[in-house]
Amino acid sequence: MLVRKFNPNDLKRVHEIESMSFNRSYGINMFQQLYDMGVGFLVAEEEGYVIGYVIFWIKYENQGHIISIAVDKNYRRMKAGTQLLVKAISILSLLRLDTIYLEVNENNEAAIEFYKSFNFKVDRIVPGYYDNGDGAIVMYLHLNRAKVSG
Ligand SMILES: CC(C)(COP(=O)(O)OP(=O)(O)OC[C@H]1O[C@@H](n2cnc3c(N)ncnc32)[C@H](O)[C@@H]1OP(=O)(O)O)[C@@H](O)C(=O)NCCC(=O)NCCS
Repeated sequence: MLVRKFNPNDLKRVHEIESMSFNRSYGINMFQQLYDMGVGFLVAEEEGYVIGYVIFWIKYENQGHIISIAVDKNYRRMKAGTQLLVKAISILSLLRLDTIYLEVNENNEAAIEFYKSFNFKVDRIVPGYYDNGDGAIVMYLHLNRAKVSG
């Protein structure tokens, strides 16, 4: 498995993975716009086939933010998500940020377990954060406690 920078040839696959992973969809144009804005955007590739992506950026001077991460359903529990997040955390660590934040749907047990496996902690719950009324759990990771390998 290879983790590399996103390029616009990956747009269609990234959008497919997003569509199978979330009820709501940012859509292809949003991915293009995020890329044009210069956010961190990585994909995981298995034998030339894109199987997952992560998008991240610096929200405030000292805070990283995971915007989105998803892995193709057929390739889950094979550590693609781990490799993507490890790489994103490594890059954000190089930028000397203090903390990484993210929001996760309170009903998304797989993702919550995934983030806990990285030592992300619960910061707070934001009721009604998502369009369908679901709440979000805000999680954070202090970078000096991050897992940056494996
Ligand atoms: C969350 C997601 C990205 C994880 O990707 P993945 O490649 O399957 O995760 P990994 O194989 O790297 O899993 C690492 C660890 O996370 C935890 N984990 C991952 N999926 C899990 C699940 N379904 N149930 C419980 N724990 C889970 C486990 O501790 C796992 O280690 P293990 O397999 O050795 O037990 C993937 O489930 C996904 O794309 N979900 C849909 C999109 C989504 O919810 N994104 C997050 C939005 S905030």
